[in-house]
Amino acid sequence: MQAEPQAFDRVLSSMCTEPHPAARKAAERFLATNPGDPGTYPTISALEDDAVSLLGEITELPEPAGYVASGGTEANIQAVRIARERADSRRPNVVMPESGHFSFQKAADILGVELRIVPTDDDHRADLEAINSSVDDETAMIVGVAGTTEYGRVDPIPALGEIAKDVGALFHVDAAWGGFVLPFTDYEWTFADAPIDTMTIDPHKVGQAAVPAGGLLARSSELLDELAVDTPYLESTSQATLSGTRSGAGVASAAAAMETLWPTGYREEYHRSQRNAAWLAEALEKRGYEVVDPTLPLVAARLPRSTFDALRAKGWRISRTATGELRVVCMPHVTREMLASFVADLDRLEVRASVPVVSDD
Ligand SMILES: Cc1ncc(COP(=O)(O)O)c(C=O)c1O
Repeated sequence: MQAEPQAFDRVLSSMCTEPHPAARKAAERFLATNPGDPGTYPTISALEDDAVSLLGEITELPEPAGYVASGGTEANIQAVRIARERADSRRPNVVMPESGHFSFQKAADILGVELRIVPTDDDHRADLEAINSSVDDETAMIVGVAGTTEYGRVDPIPALGEIAKDVGALFHVDAAWGGFVLPFTDYEWTFADAPIDTMTIDPHKVGQAAVPAGGLLARSSELLDELAVDTPYLESTSQATLSGTRSGAGVASAAAAMETLWPTGYREEYHRSQRNAAWLAEALEKRGYEVVDPTLPLVAARLPRSTFDALRAKGWRISRTATGELRVVCMPHVTREMLASFVADLDRLEVRASVPVVSDD
C-alpha cells in the first residue's frame, strides 16, 4: 500500500485531531484486543473501567456507569435507546434544540422515536421557552448540547435539566466535543449542578485519543442496564454496547490520553486553543467579515462563497455551517502559525479579487 495518511497542517474543520503520543502508543499496543469480550481480554476491560472513571472526574458525574463507544454517534443513539426503554409511552418523543447533532436523527430513525427539533435563540443556544412548549407527557428525553458542532455554543444545562425533571423525562447532555474544555471555562454552573442522566463525551475529539474512542456515561448502572443483552457464548453475562467486537486501541488510547493530560495538559490546551480562536475571530473581524463570537474554541464567520471555494482549492480543509458560514475548529493540532498562514492566503485572495480585471485588447 502506497497511500499516506492525511497530514493535519491544513485541517481547520475537523473535530478529530492528532492523538497524543501516549495515546498513539497505547492504541498500537492494544490493537489486537477486544473489550467486548472481557472474559478473554481482562486487561483492556480494566482499562475501560479506568477510562470511564476518568470521564466521571472530568465531567464531575459521581461514579458513572458507561463505556468507550465508537464515537459520539453511537453514544447518542444509545442514550436515546435508554430513554426509549424507560418510557411509558408507545410513541415517545425526544426534544432537542436545532443545534443538536444529526446523530439524533439516526437514533430517531433506528429506534422509532419522534424527534422534536426546536429552534434556538439568537445566540444559537437552546431556547428554554421553546423547549418548554415542545415537551409533553410522552417526552422521554430532553437533549442539551454543551459545545455545539456548528458554533461551539453551550446550552443552559441546569435549566434544561429542570424542565426534563418536571416532565419526568431523562436528561441527556451531548458534550461530545465540549466535554474536555468545559471544566476550564468560567460558566457559573458545572455538570454537577444539573440532574444529568446520560452524557456523551468523546476522547477522540478534544481528549486527544485515537479514533475510535467516544464516550457514553450514565448516572447509574441501572440506567446502563437498559441496554444490556445476555451473552450466552461469552464468559461475561451481558453486554450493553452497540457493537460486539470493539477496538481495544480506542479504549487503551482514551485511558492513556486522559491519564497523561488530565487536568494540566487539557487546561493548557484549552487556553491555547481559546486564544487562537480569539485571534482568528479578531483577524476576520478586522477584515470586515461578520464573525460569531467564539465562546469555545470554534470560530464561525460569513465569507463569500467564492472566497471559501478558493481557500479550499488552496488545500485548506474548511467546512460550512448549514447557513453557509465558514467554520474553523481550533483543535490541539491547530497552531497560530497555521491560522496566520490561512489569513495570509485569505488576504492574497481578497487583494486579487479587488484588482480590476483589465482586458488584453
Ligand atoms: C456535539 C456532537 N455530538 C456528536 C457528534 C458525533 O460524533 P462522531 O462523529 O464521533 O460519531 C459530533 C461530531 O462532531 C458532535 O460535534
